Amino acid sequence: MNFLRFISAGLGAAALVASAHAAGGALHPHEPEGGWAFEGPLGELDMESVQRGYQVYREVCSSCHSMRLMSYRNLGEPGGPFYDPEYPNANDNPLVKSFAAMDTVTDPIPDEFGDPVTRPARPSDPFRSPFKNEQQARAANGGAYPPDLSVITKARHGGASYVYSLISGYPSRDATEVRVDGTNVETIIDVSQVESLAHGDDHYEGELIQPTGQYYNPYMAGDTTPQWRGDPRHAPPGGFLAMAPQLMDGRVTYLDGTEATVEQMSIDIANFLQWAGEPKQSQRKSLGLAAMIYLFILAILLWFSFHRIWRNVDH
Ligand code: HEC
Repeated sequence: MNFLRFISAGLGAAALVASAHAAGGALHPHEPEGGWAFEGPLGELDMESVQRGYQVYREVCSSCHSMRLMSYRNLGEPGGPFYDPEYPNANDNPLVKSFAAMDTVTDPIPDEFGDPVTRPARPSDPFRSPFKNEQQARAANGGAYPPDLSVITKARHGGASYVYSLISGYPSRDATEVRVDGTNVETIIDVSQVESLAHGDDHYEGELIQPTGQYYNPYMAGDTTPQWRGDPRHAPPGGFLAMAPQLMDGRVTYLDGTEATVEQMSIDIANFLQWAGEPKQSQRKSLGLAAMIYLFILAILLWFSFHRIWRNVDH
């Protein structure tokens, strides 16, 4: 009897968990097809991808998102995407200098009248911020705050996979329809056409109404049930956010000639943000490996010296 009760309690709990999953929740972020090169104890960031990711950040994301913890010189430091052993001091790296000089910043020191001075950035400056403060950022983004991206891969579950999935996971244009009925304008997502939700069946048969200024993304945390016209048990996963889809094929023209597909740009920006979240990752890993080898050799030496020292002692 007790055993039966135990089993049924277990089944009940499992059903609860399953139903909690069915209502709300977001799709689990996933890696790109080839996985991430930086994963594992010996993994190294794909630096060419990080370089391209910086271009995506500059040309797309930086018009809304700051990266206050990064300075231009970080790009040219060991472990950085534009590190050049010829310029051990990143402040001398011409590439880094030119990236900095393309941005205009406000000098922390005002002029003799106390007025702010603007000038081209130097390698030692922090990345230029698109807005003066949070209020200005919100005012420009319909009340939503574009979070600082310096450590976003540490701040979100799934890290780089989350950034990649979110940025590339918006419904395509084909799945989005704007319906005008008199003065009433509705943006509707045909969820059965959202690629990342492809089930091979009509699981998500129905329409999702996008609130004004909000965009559906299956990887965003949230709840779609209030906006769902369809079987309420099959409301699609994900939520709405105030960031419109940012990437379309060819959005940037890569300096290295790589074809700028949405997939490619999403991988590159995720790699760049992964680097930014932990700029010393490659040094940490190589130091870790050296320490492990050292400890291993030390352990062998200790083992032999132990036997040598206690050689003549009965035990
Ligand atoms: C036009 C302005 C704009 C641009 C350009 C932009 N974003 Fe955003 N982003 C936003 C806003 C606004 C939010 C906050 C959305 C919200 O909270 O509803 C946001 C949120 C985010 C988030 C956080 C989502 C979460 O989990 O809360 C990430 C990650 C992000 N953006 C990455 C990027 C990347 C990468 C790029 C460049 C490819 C980019 N954004 C370009 C405006 C922008």
